[in-house]
Amino acid sequence: MILDELELSWKGKESLAGKVALVTGASSGIGASIARKLAKRGAYVAVLARRQERLDELIRDLHQEELYEVMAIPADIQKAEDVQQAVHAILEHWGRLDIIVANAGFGYRSPLAEVDLERWEELYKTNVHGLVLTLKYGLQPMREQAKGDVVIVSSIAAKEVVAGGGLYSATKYGVSAIASALRLETSTQGIRVTAIHPGAVATEFSQVAGYPEQEIRAFASSVLPLHPDDVAEAALYALEQPEHVNIPELTIMPSRQVQRFK
Ligand SMILES: NC(=O)c1ccc[n+]([C@@H]2O[C@H](COP(=O)([O-])OP(=O)(O)OC[C@H]3O[C@@H](n4cnc5c(N)ncnc54)[C@H](OP(=O)(O)O)[C@@H]3O)[C@@H](O)[C@H]2O)c1
Repeated sequence: MILDELELSWKGKESLAGKVALVTGASSGIGASIARKLAKRGAYVAVLARRQERLDELIRDLHQEELYEVMAIPADIQKAEDVQQAVHAILEHWGRLDIIVANAGFGYRSPLAEVDLERWEELYKTNVHGLVLTLKYGLQPMREQAKGDVVIVSSIAAKEVVAGGGLYSATKYGVSAIASALRLETSTQGIRVTAIHPGAVATEFSQVAGYPEQEIRAFASSVLPLHPDDVAEAALYALEQPEHVNIPELTIMPSRQVQRFK
């Protein structure tokens, strides 16, 4: 039988021990949680964000757990030279790059007629252009290795638009389009791509996006948002699949949340 000739068998979870990972937006929230979990699974982890003190704090915590193969990279993903240097530093230190978690990003809400153009530019440069830079420089070593994993943190906002959320959605629709195209381009090169679409997650996201505090409280108490570890577990689920298995997309929602703001 043809299937027997292929000698298919279930090989169990892929080990993350010794794999080298870059996590962008790791100074808080989902990125910090993914970085911690990767380190605990034995991966070598470079944590990238702009706030160095937060990265240092994370590294100190990991050291206390006797996890020493971790590196802080203070960098701004809007800047090509920062991202290029980050990848260079990882290759200098560990000699390879196996996992990219492209997570850095932020939210913005405004009616289109009242858009703050500077904020919009910042949003696009972070959520879309920053992702493009992360992939441009991060994929090079993976292509040479003919092996790698890319996890891209998109959003439920890439699937659903709400009034006032058009610009954030525009960036996340873009992020998901990039993830889909990347999978088409790299699936035969040993590089797996997973896009994660979380609903509401309890992180600094809402404050950074400038949502009124009362609204954050009311929304959180009605939907009971995800913990960042919930999303991190989803990311690790994809990364730990055996080599021949890819999870192209994962949507993860609070059980009570049926729509983006409801
Ligand atoms: N929380 C939610 O409800 C939710 C839902 C769906 C999707 N998401 C997505 O999840 C991702 C992570 O967000 P989060 O919820 O964990 O929010 P968060 O706690 O605010 O984390 C955002 C991270 O992105 C980093 N970042 C922002 N701009 C950056 C830049 N220019 N260069 C480097 N790092 C930058 C921040 O670090 P620095 O400020 O130190 O640079 C921070 O580490 C984002 O892409 C967001 O769109 C969040």
